[in-house]
Amino acid sequence: MNRTSLNARRVWVTGASTGIGRAVTLELVRRGATVFASARNESALNELVRECGDDRVAALPFDVTDRTANQRAVNDMHRRAGGLDIAFLNAGTCEYVDVAAFDSALFERTIRTNFLSMVYGIEAALPLLRQSPAPQLVGMSSTVAYRGLPRSEAYGASKAAIKNLFESLQVDLAPEGISVSVVCPGFVRTPLTDRNDFSMPFRIEAEDAARRIVDGIEARKPEIHFPRRFSLLFKCLTLLPSRWYIGLCARMVKQP
Ligand SMILES: NC(=O)c1ccc[n+]([C@@H]2O[C@H](COP(=O)([O-])OP(=O)(O)OC[C@H]3O[C@@H](n4cnc5c(N)ncnc54)[C@H](OP(=O)(O)O)[C@@H]3O)[C@@H](O)[C@H]2O)c1
Repeated sequence: MNRTSLNARRVWVTGASTGIGRAVTLELVRRGATVFASARNESALNELVRECGDDRVAALPFDVTDRTANQRAVNDMHRRAGGLDIAFLNAGTCEYVDVAAFDSALFERTIRTNFLSMVYGIEAALPLLRQSPAPQLVGMSSTVAYRGLPRSEAYGASKAAIKNLFESLQVDLAPEGISVSVVCPGFVRTPLTDRNDFSMPFRIEAEDAARRIVDGIEARKPEIHFPRRFSLLFKCLTLLPSRWYIGLCARMVKQP
């Protein structure tokens, strides 16, 4: 597989204020890239700029659910750097569903933040990526995209939609030479998973996740999934007959 050097490449990272996005930004800078870091928390982004230097990281704070703001951010990148080589659309949120109080507003929030924001980001970034000599589009999904999990009706659906979207883009953007990758991590220690009230097997640190993601971007892997013992187990579960899978999940759900 062809590896691309990340040296001097211009990368956009959304969700860069904390967790995986922050760790990926630091890893990209370590490998020579310059990063446009986006999230809503402007002071956290400014802290990243102070840590890495303003010649390596530029803060572009905005809300990813705002279509026009995505466009403005990309225009800003064009003005400041003359272009964009890699977009890593990573921003996301997770809310678990209580089926006893089934609430469509939770679904709207999750789909808007995780999925529609990604569509807005792709729409904004594609014209600039098309001008790059080696463009790459990378989207953050999850291992939950492989099969539905208890209480993940909204989060899982948003991540499965992202995985499906990126698989279609892999085919449709290939003739233009745009490399498309989808990232499917298992559990990673971040503020997002620190809120979870269940055990998280094989959970890894954000820095470890960042190295694996950036290795995958360098190798232009279509699917970046890890930790492998966990993600391969999930892939095997897709082969399990539904009746068995439902029984297995039912045993995972805590009884009151
Ligand atoms: N941690 C895991 O185990 C795991 C596993 C699989 C997939 N993922 C995915 O990885 C991505 C990063 O998650 P994480 O674990 O690193 O969680 P995190 O630390 O909570 O980071 C989420 C990031 O998304 C940003 N964000 C959320 N809503 C936003 C909005 N409306 N506009 C702009 N930015 C927004 C947050 O920044 P602001 O709050 O400053 O806006 C933050 O930078 C998510 O897509 C998540 O679903 C995580």
